[in-house]
Amino acid sequence: MLTRLCSASEVPEQGVKQVAPQGLEAEFAVYRLDGQFYATDDMCTHGMVSLSNGDVADGQIFCPLHGGAFDIRTGKATELPCRQALKIYAVVVQGDELFADLG
Ligand code: FES
Repeated sequence: MLTRLCSASEVPEQGVKQVAPQGLEAEFAVYRLDGQFYATDDMCTHGMVSLSNGDVADGQIFCPLHGGAFDIRTGKATELPCRQALKIYAVVVQGDELFADLG
């Protein structure tokens, strides 16, 4: 089942936006890289920190707490101390709206 994330125009190019879909307890991070949209869990796998407060660079999201990083497209941990991959979700674009199967 697809859940609405946000509007495409709300996600900055080479940037990240935190979304909290209605009816779900978790938050998610939505990214735009070269015009393509990606979504991951918002919580770092190393600690209880919101990745959407971090920086996007070279297709990676850098955690604001310890500087660990993940590949936004694959979720793979790319910088220590992160080791555990980040969960990723395929984003479906319908007009200006972004959706993903978050189940
Ligand atoms: S909490 Fe994210 S790198 Fe430590």
